[in-house]
This record gives sequence, C-alpha cells and structure tokens, in this order.
Amino acid sequence: MIRFGGDYNPEQWPPHVWREDVALMRSAGISLVTVGVFSWSRLQPAEDRFDFAWLDEVLDLLHGNGIGVCLATPTASPPPWFTRAHPGAMPVTADGVRLTHGSRDTYCVNAPEYQEASNRIANELAARYGQHPALRLWHVHNEYGTTCYCDHCAPAFRRWLSHTYGEIGLVNEVWCTDFWSQRYGCFDEVLPPRATQYLSNPAHVLDYRRFSSDAMLTHYLAQRDILRPYGVPVTTNFVLGGWVPVDHARWAREVDVVAVDDYPESVEGHLAARAFVADLARGWAGGQPWMLMEHAPAAVRQADGVTRALPAGEARAAAETYVAGGASAVMYFQWRAGRGGAEQWHPAMVPLLSELAPIGRSLATRTPVRVESTRALIYDEQSMWAWQSPHLPTPFVDYTAITRRWHHAMGPPVDVLPIGAPLEGYSLVVAPALHMVPAALHKRLRSYVADGGTLVLTFGSGLTDEHSRTTPGAFDDLCGIRVARHRPGECGVRGVRDGRSGECGVCGVRDGRSGECGVRGVRDDRSGECGVGGVRDDHPSERGVGAKQHRPGEYGVWLDEIDPQDATVVLHSSEGRPLVTEHRYGRGLVRYVAADLPDPTPWARS
Ligand code: GLA
Ligand code: ZN
Repeated sequence: MIRFGGDYNPEQWPPHVWREDVALMRSAGISLVTVGVFSWSRLQPAEDRFDFAWLDEVLDLLHGNGIGVCLATPTASPPPWFTRAHPGAMPVTADGVRLTHGSRDTYCVNAPEYQEASNRIANELAARYGQHPALRLWHVHNEYGTTCYCDHCAPAFRRWLSHTYGEIGLVNEVWCTDFWSQRYGCFDEVLPPRATQYLSNPAHVLDYRRFSSDAMLTHYLAQRDILRPYGVPVTTNFVLGGWVPVDHARWAREVDVVAVDDYPESVEGHLAARAFVADLARGWAGGQPWMLMEHAPAAVRQADGVTRALPAGEARAAAETYVAGGASAVMYFQWRAGRGGAEQWHPAMVPLLSELAPIGRSLATRTPVRVESTRALIYDEQSMWAWQSPHLPTPFVDYTAITRRWHHAMGPPVDVLPIGAPLEGYSLVVAPALHMVPAALHKRLRSYVADGGTLVLTFGSGLTDEHSRTTPGAFDDLCGIRVARHRPGECGVRGVRDGRSGECGVCGVRDGRSGECGVRGVRDDRSGECGVGGVRDDHPSERGVGAKQHRPGEYGVWLDEIDPQDATVVLHSSEGRPLVTEHRYGRGLVRYVAADLPDPTPWARS
C-alpha cells in the first residue's frame, strides 16, 4: 500500500467534527494522518500538568476506523507558559533581538531548559502511546530549521569547533583569519557570526550552519532515542530551502524513513519541481522508499504570496510524480483548515475530496515503485550554502534553480545524489555548479571518470574546498582546459537578479523567475523575451546536439573564459568563445559547460 493522508489537527475543532472527519477519511481512502505536530499547549497546559484525554479519544477513534497515526512530538512550538518560565530559551537573531512567543519554532535548541522540556514531553508521549495500535510512525518535531545566535549557542559553537578542529590554530588556518585581522588566540574569542560591521567571514558562516545542523540533530536524536524502544519507526520531516541550516544528507542516516515536505514555488513547472524533490528524497534515502510528508492539496502557494489552484487533473499528476520517484506515502498539509490562526487560508483536503479521494483509493492498491537509473545528478546542500557567501563574482547564481534546470534537461529517470553517495555503476553523472568540492570528492570524481564514466561539470564547479577556500583550476586537468577568468553573464549585465530574494534594478522585478515585469513584459527571465532590452534568452534553433555556434546573450548568470588545452570544443558562442568542451580522461569523458545555458538539454545526455 502507498499511504495517503495528511496533517490532522483535531484540537482545532470540537469532538463532533472529529466523527465527521473520520467518516470522510474512510471514504477518501485515508490510511495515515499526522497528529500532534503543534499540540504542546493542549498536551501540557502547564509545566506540571498533562492532558492526554483528548488525544486518547482521537487515537482510539482513528484506530476504530482503520486509520493509522503518525504521532508527532510537539516540540516545534513550545507553549506560552514555557516562554514565560524560560525567557532565556527563546532564540536570538544575528542582530541580537531576542524573539518572543507568538508564532512557532521559537526556541533555542541549545538551551538546556528547552532540551529538558522537549525530552519530557517526548517521554510522556512515548509512555502513553508507544503501544497504541493506531501508531505507525513517530514524527519528531517539525521541519527543523531555527537558527539562533544566543549566549547558549556561543559556548556550544566553541565546543563544536574544538571537537571538529582540535586546536584554534587549525580554525585560523581553515578560516583564513589573517584576512581583516580575525586571527583567534583561543576558542573563547570565537562568537557566532552575529551582525557585524561589514561582510562576515564565509568559512565562519559555513561552519556555523554546520554547527546549527548538528545542534538540531542532537535535539532530534535525544527524542528519537526516547521513542525508538517502542519498536515503531522514527522520522522527522525535512523542509527544503536556502534558509534551512540542516544538512539533510547527514540527517538521512539518522531517520528510519526519509520524509520530506514539498512546496513548489510556482504553478508553472510544478511537476518538474516535484520530480526533482522526489529524486532528491530517494537519493537521501539511499534508493529506499521515502515519504512525502506534506504538500499543498491541489494548489501551489507561490513565492509571490498568491495561492493558485492547480489545473484540473494536476493534483493527481502531482501525486503520481512523487510515486514515480519512489514515494511510499503521499500526504498533504492539511486535512481540515483551522477557522483561525496564521494559516487559516492554507488549502486543505476536506473541500477537495471529490478530486483527492480517487487518488487515495488508487494508491491504496499499489506498492512503492523501485526506481532504477543509470544516470545521476549531484546536489549538495552545502554547496548551496556556499553560493550564498558574500562577494562572489556575481550574486545572481541560484544554485538550486540551476540544478533543477539540469535535472529537467536530463529527463527521467535520474538519481539525485548527495556528494557522499557511491557513483559506481552510473554511466552519466552531472554535477552542475558544484561550488564546494572537498579533496576526497575530487578523488572520487576522477576515479569515476578514469573507470569509464561520463561526468558533466559546469561553470562554478570546484571553486572552493569545504572551508570556502578558493581552489583555482581544481578541475582543469580533469577537463583538459584552463579556466582563465570567471565573469558574470548577461543577466548580471542587464541587472536582472535571478534569485528569489533579488531585486532587479532595471525593471523592479522582485523575483526574476516567478514575478511579472510590468515594464518589460518579461514573465520569466530565463525563458522569455525582453522586449525593451532586445535580449533573447531562448534559442530553440540551437538546441540540437552538434550545434556549433551559440547566439549572444547566452551566458546566463556566468561565463568561464576558458582555454581548451587537451579538450575538444563542441560549442562556441558567436563571439568564438568556447562554451562546451569534452575531454577524454582514462576510460571516460568529462564535459565542461562554461556558461549558464538556458537549455542545457543537449549537454545533459550521455
Ligand atoms: C510547513 C509546515 C506546516 C505548514 C505548511 C504550510 O510545511 O510543516 O505546518 O505550515 O508548511 O505550507
Ligand atoms: Zn541559542
């Protein structure tokens, strides 16, 4: 069976609605609901008082109707009494502002009071429900991702550094602290990368993200180890996005089943975006089945803040996309929307059951697909973090968007792999804009090619080592080229910023990919046509393999000026610049794509 269901928040409704809910769930083929994600203030109304009566009733009701439960620990939202009793456990922003209760995810994972309170409620839930017959899965917390810079975090960061590097001299070396007089005399001098006068040290910021990821992992592991003895699998739901300081490839080793939430940023291309996430989740899961823990029912809440309904039939296509990528569960946020609260307008399943129920009924009779692919794409969240460093040759590189474009160009089936995954057995490996390449990965990529594989690298690959230190020419010998210079491509020249957070100075478009440019009429900077500037981004006539010349304006956000040494140039720009080269290395082949081509399809195939 492929499980079907969603987040269920019965505490937001009176008990007579629960009975209506389970009747509807039965008719809609719901087999699993996630309960309790944000229920802490109901489960523990005061520090010394617990109330499980309502949850007893809900779990019994679900079980009586044959519906399984994914039971969450509620630690993503500590209740108001906790905040009042432990104001020092509230997170502090990089600017030094201590946040207060009023939303969710407001805690410091390094605060001992928060850790104790989290473990206490997890223990209570485990003892009470660990043997409940409805229980199928434990769901620890929700979408880990809060970063804190407080005085609990500072010493914890120093301990992490000491554990990682052993002595401060090594920190100085890998952080290149001789730049701007940042050399540290001892660990006690190190602070979190709080607000400072000008640019922060990128290696410092990178290590703080790694530390934050490990600190949250410690919080997760404490709960997992409380819940595991009950014999039911334990997981947490991964949230994707540039702001998330979680190294999911590392975390994937600690969950019993990989679970991800997926919220595409626009209706346009949403199926391709979902296919990428499915392949990514399967990569984290080492090829095993994984769960789609949340997506929005029959809608996309776009990056521009508008919630758009999917065209008829596309809710099913969305579900099928996850299933084709190996999902063992297709779940939504949420079953029934609350009457109030910050997400009262978020789409919910109940009003859409005529469309969704047939999906659930069909999934109930199926088993997870086993995906076999001979082609892989490398996606590295830490490289994504590195692409957020200040003062890069251009700020316009959106690593995830570029990687997704290559994924789409490759066509299914593709395994999206973290950098540590084995590459043996793949005939083609594509690693777009892989900014940060540790020495061990350099070695593995070389062996992969030497042994007969085809590797595609692009501009922006191998710029730095894992400490953000530049590694000029790191791939030159492998690619048979010399990278002479990095320069921003045409997007930079036009002043169009391609990231979600960017602002276009020329036309005032805030989001180059999904926004609408009133002035220039450009809807999608990558695929559209700019009437005013006359810059064309789309070159259908040049798409075929073997095209010898590219048109101008084709460098996207980046162009590497390269001198081919032993490599063959297979694509030139009209200015005669080499854009794509190929080089035999050992028994294999390395293709280098020097510019941010809007359609890399011809170069994404073996
Ligand atoms: C996340 C959360 C949910 C809800 C949805 C809304 O995925 O886990 O609680 O906030 O987003 O899209
Ligand atoms: Zn903190």
